[in-house]
Amino acid sequence: MVKLVIVIALVALAYSCEARQFSRCELVRELRRQGFPNAQLRNWVCLIEVESNRITNRVSRVNSDGSRNYGLFQISDRYWCNNGPTPGKDCNVRCSDLLTSDIRSASVCAKRIYNRHGFRAWNGWRNRCQRDLPNISSC
Ligand SMILES: *[C@@H]1O[C@H](CO)[C@@H](O)[C@H](O)[C@H]1NC(C)=O
Repeated sequence: MVKLVIVIALVALAYSCEARQFSRCELVRELRRQGFPNAQLRNWVCLIEVESNRITNRVSRVNSDGSRNYGLFQISDRYWCNNGPTPGKDCNVRCSDLLTSDIRSASVCAKRIYNRHGFRAWNGWRNRCQRDLPNISSC
């Protein structure tokens, strides 16, 4: 019984370490580190705030077509990540790799989506980021 409790505690701890909610300025710093162009930063911050509220392990509910969206950038398993044990789809990643506090894989995949479709690929950006963008000048 004690062993079981310890195992559960460790699993919970591992999960909490993986998950992360960035503050706005932490996010800005992290996006710079991942090489997102300065001129795009306010758009990416808006997109991420609308899509995931800056929470790395956010998983959407099931969409009408049976797909789900994963992580900071809410990337779809319909086209971009494989919802299974092996990497796959167009970003050649597992969807679970898009949920970690280390946002490298998610950033590479988001840039690939952007390069193919622009910000219009994201409904959240289309609906909420075309007029007002967040002010990140104090970050
Ligand atoms: C953005 O924030 C800075 C610092 O808080 C402020 O000086 C500036 O006026 C703001 N810009 C806009 C467009 O609101």
